[in-house]
Amino acid sequence: MIDRLVITRPDDWHLHLRDTEALAAVVPFTARQFRRAIVMPNLRPPVINAGQALAYRQRILQALPPGTDFDPLMTLYLTDNTTPQVISEAASAGHIVAVKLYPAGATTNSDSGVTDIDNTLATLERMAELGMPLLVHGEVTDNTDVFEREQRFIDRVLAPLARRLPELKIVLEHITTADAVAFVNSGRPGLAATVTPQHLLMNRNALFSGGIRPHHYCLPVLKHERHREAVLNAATSGSERFFLGTDSAPHARSAKENPCGCAGIFSAHAGIEFYAEAFEQAGKLDKLQTFASEAGPDFYGLPRNTDTITLVREPWQVPESYPYLANDPIVPLRAGETITWRMENNLND
Ligand code: DOR
Ligand code: ZN
Repeated sequence: MIDRLVITRPDDWHLHLRDTEALAAVVPFTARQFRRAIVMPNLRPPVINAGQALAYRQRILQALPPGTDFDPLMTLYLTDNTTPQVISEAASAGHIVAVKLYPAGATTNSDSGVTDIDNTLATLERMAELGMPLLVHGEVTDNTDVFEREQRFIDRVLAPLARRLPELKIVLEHITTADAVAFVNSGRPGLAATVTPQHLLMNRNALFSGGIRPHHYCLPVLKHERHREAVLNAATSGSERFFLGTDSAPHARSAKENPCGCAGIFSAHAGIEFYAEAFEQAGKLDKLQTFASEAGPDFYGLPRNTDTITLVREPWQVPESYPYLANDPIVPLRAGETITWRMENNLND
């Protein structure tokens, strides 16, 4: 049994950091583990142009503990009104690496999202020309069963789009189904997916174990065990089409433990440890480095990190909560329970 694992420092290719006091509360967790993270633009109001993305990046840098070496990679929020010019400006501004597609109404702060992909074609063509990837929240927003929205989105929107714009780089974010795995694997070059820890470690039973579990609710929602197995197999296969994106999405406790609780799971306190657990369960710890530290930068055309982190088998108990907003803490994934692996020198030391 391996008790100690040294891997190239990982990056997080899908992360929500929020803003102001929430940002300051959560960003240190990510910056202790990951060198870079792709920061989602679903603020209120959303980050829709280069000026806003660079200003947000400055706020993130200012919120870091002194001396932290962390590079926030920024994204723009695609709307029906995003012009090709906005994309060109973002590409030449530096630090902005991708554009996020939220179908309008699909998830948290997505009401400014795209109502019809056809409205954005000229903009997507410019992205394809510039090599700027489209990051996709892949769920339809009609009355489709909540457990089938990803499959339907792939069939109705994503597969036709991938054919129509064969040069556009596409990341299907936080995949949850065997159908998404099959699509990414069968697809053309320039197609990849991120995978969260929750979709590797839990199936939809976790939403209802012993009662309703708001802290296990995220979007896309957890799926059937057969889908979890397919996603776990893909992530641990060694294929460079699948890489790490925690989708750590903080919401204060009062917003989660609520008659209409928000979607989002906070996992940044133990991001890499959760993945180590999942990879160990699959008997594939040897593939963790590809998934966590190599496939992502290779897809984005960025250099791999050169330093390392060390994971040790040293079970530790996750706190019941961490400070977040005044009098409204955050409940982390696995609160009050044990995690098998521990990254040396992380915040929990
Ligand atoms: O569960 C989720 N939370 N899914 C998303 O797509 C958005 C995220 C958030 O921002 O809270
Ligand atoms: Zn997300």
